[in-house]
Amino acid sequence: MSEALKREAAARAVAEIASGMKVGLGTGSTARHFVELLGERVAQGLDVVGVPTSEATAQQARQCGIPLSDLDQLDRLDVTVDGADEIDAHLNLIKGGGGALLREKIVAASSDAMIVIADSSKIVETLGRFPLPVEVNRFGLGATRRSVAMIMERHKAQGELKLRTTADGIPFVTDGGHLILDAFFGRISQPEALSRELLDIPGVVQHGLFLKMCRKAYVATPNGVETLL
Ligand code: 5RP
Repeated sequence: MSEALKREAAARAVAEIASGMKVGLGTGSTARHFVELLGERVAQGLDVVGVPTSEATAQQARQCGIPLSDLDQLDRLDVTVDGADEIDAHLNLIKGGGGALLREKIVAASSDAMIVIADSSKIVETLGRFPLPVEVNRFGLGATRRSVAMIMERHKAQGELKLRTTADGIPFVTDGGHLILDAFFGRISQPEALSRELLDIPGVVQHGLFLKMCRKAYVATPNGVETLL
């Protein structure tokens, strides 16, 4: 999907931001458009404060002139605008393709609303085609990995569990210093149960299932931007 369409979705979200708002800033290529467009409005006088969901977004937001804060200084945010890897009909999501799922979830959970911006390739009937990112502590990786694999078996996963690596073949490390296991389910038929089971594993820090967190999605299609509620 073209960058122009992603930008259109981002523009729809930017139009909802008003002066005085505290805004969670997502991570990824679609969220980058949002941050850039928000920066343009800040340059025109929009008075907002942003809370970034990754070091990469923080760097971009600073370059765009968006004043930043964090969840130690701020209590609640008005809205978080972020991308997604998969969106189902209930606006449940898989996120974390960019490795920022932990901060993304903390920021979204501290927001009165979460708006997702994406292109139509992210729409699915059932979550799970995109490998579910599971952020894990480095300590006890083997044990955590075996526990996640057992849960995958129970949920009839159709694929493997892989430690995420960089292009150089070294383990990918998140902003929080953790590792990511990508779990290929194919189809996640019981997302709530899966979420609870994964979080019960001591070495699991967080996972990329965002259930009942998103209120609205702007989805860019070749025929324009659709609003999903
Ligand atoms: C990062 C994310 C991203 O929002 C997700 O991967 C979508 O990214 P993009 O807009 O580049 O497709 O969850 O952790």
